[in-house]
Amino acid sequence: MGRWLRIPLLLGLLLAVVVAGLVDRSDGGVTSSFVRNAKKAIDMPIDSDVFRVPPGYNAPQQVHITQGNHDGSAMIVSWVTEAEPGSSKVLYGTDSNKLIFSAEGKHTRYEFYNYTSGYIHHCTIRKLKHDTKYYYAVGIGHTVRKFWFTTPPKVGPDVPYTFGLIGDLGQSYDSNSTLTHYEANPKGQAVLFVGDLSYADNYPNHDNVRWDTWGRFVERSTAYQPWIWTAGNHEIDFAPEIGETVPFKPFIHRYHVPYRSSGSTAPFWYSIKRASAYIIVLASYSAYGKYTPQYKWLEEELPKVNRSETPWLIVLMHSPWYNSYNYHYMEGESMRVMYEQWFVQNKVDVVFAGHVHAYERSHRVSNIAYNIVNGKCKPVRDESAPVYITIGDGGNLEGLASNMSEPQPSYSAFREASFGHAVFEIKNRTHAYYTWHRNQDGDAVAADSMWFYNRYWKSADEIPAV
Ligand SMILES: *[C@@H]1O[C@H](CO)[C@@H](O)[C@H](O)[C@H]1NC(C)=O
Ligand SMILES: *[C@@H]1O[C@H](CO)[C@@H](O)[C@H](O)[C@H]1NC(C)=O
Ligand SMILES: *[C@@H]1O[C@H](CO)[C@@H](O)[C@H](O)[C@H]1NC(C)=O
Ligand SMILES: *[C@@H]1O[C@H](CO)[C@@H](O)[C@H](O)[C@H]1NC(C)=O
Ligand SMILES: *[C@@H]1O[C@H](CO)[C@@H](O)[C@H](O)[C@H]1NC(C)=O
Ligand SMILES: [Fe+2]
Repeated sequence: MGRWLRIPLLLGLLLAVVVAGLVDRSDGGVTSSFVRNAKKAIDMPIDSDVFRVPPGYNAPQQVHITQGNHDGSAMIVSWVTEAEPGSSKVLYGTDSNKLIFSAEGKHTRYEFYNYTSGYIHHCTIRKLKHDTKYYYAVGIGHTVRKFWFTTPPKVGPDVPYTFGLIGDLGQSYDSNSTLTHYEANPKGQAVLFVGDLSYADNYPNHDNVRWDTWGRFVERSTAYQPWIWTAGNHEIDFAPEIGETVPFKPFIHRYHVPYRSSGSTAPFWYSIKRASAYIIVLASYSAYGKYTPQYKWLEEELPKVNRSETPWLIVLMHSPWYNSYNYHYMEGESMRVMYEQWFVQNKVDVVFAGHVHAYERSHRVSNIAYNIVNGKCKPVRDESAPVYITIGDGGNLEGLASNMSEPQPSYSAFREASFGHAVFEIKNRTHAYYTWHRNQDGDAVAADSMWFYNRYWKSADEIPAV
């Protein structure tokens, strides 16, 4: 090859490298090179320490709390007694030695195939003072157990608040590791749980004993801080083969949510305000098409969000809309088609989902230009669109989703198949700091992070990412 031929060839090669680099950059996605120990996730045996029944006659177990009304001045306290109903009363107060207030709850129970539940108590305590530590006691008359929680600050635009994010938890050794890491991360004040709790339905006849073991396992967190519940597919428990045809039966008996206070007519979609956040919980497994109850509710709900009061608009759902793993691929698509336009119009800040047992964070993208004739059906960068985060990596027995679609689609900013949890730390109306923590790392180490700039309150710090 002559000298004068070789130069253009080299230039061409150089250009190709540069172009390849650019293409790579415009796609922008990172698939983490972290190599994890790919052990199978195994459920903790039934006699594990975390499943121990608390000692004492008819002792309350599976104690959990969740927000009890729209503005956070009420709390729902729930627990189970096994031997007899006992009292549904909660004693509470701000002095641990003087629980001067009391509220009366109710109990319920259910049957599932050949399983009969314990007595499940739910008691809403109201008119709580904001930003206050309360002590509470349950099991009055038999074995009394005492716990505490801190109420959220009064709702307001610049109130700092930190949410933990956990999804698809289950009850394996990895689930225990996720919960331990979350607890060691000292910041989380409430958990936004994106669905799939116990995975009892993976056992023969949906062995509901595994709902009880799960309740005892997570009590060390759920008794002390509210977990905000989203229903996942493992909550459906629809099993006509054994005569169980009422969907969500165990879930709705065990986990109450304050759906009525946001005008919802079912416990699967609802909203709450907490500190500076407005949280909308949606139901991937309830009807969401036009004219359905969920559709009508969401249509009326979005205009109610006052960003001067609650700047941060967060949506929880189980099945992700943007997911580049080869698991549950496009399962969220029909709901995305129904509601994505609304999310962009209303400038939702972030959408958290689970379902896929891995971690992924998207760029701000939308895909709303399509109609049946124009063919415009590609996600595009959109500064009014939410960031979509899949945090279904709690560690349940089904194991990790590690098979990803290649090449990484342009909407995907970061993805990694590891178990872990995340933290969303609201600083004020413009800034929130988000971190993802994988279980293999030490406590509070961030494996992915991002500054969130509020979609409604624009910050001068923001460098547009387009
Ligand atoms: C329910 O039925 C299964 C098998 O059909 C059996 O193994 C289990 O012990 C039964 N449980 C109860 C509580 O009777
Ligand atoms: C679960 O984690 C807790 C806290 O780290 C630990 O004390 C307990 O022994 C663990 N249990 C199992 C079965 O791994
Ligand atoms: C929105 O919230 C702000 C701050 O709390 C309040 O001043 C304003 O009246 C609210 N707007 C509406 C339409 O309710
Ligand atoms: C990953 O998923 C793709 C698409 O479903 C499939 O064709 C492929 O065989 C899978 N690879 C592995 C290693 O399971
Ligand atoms: C909001 O928080 C960010 C991050 O902590 C900080 O840099 C910024 O100055 C704060 N804004 C106001 C108005 O305090
Ligand atoms: Fe799921």
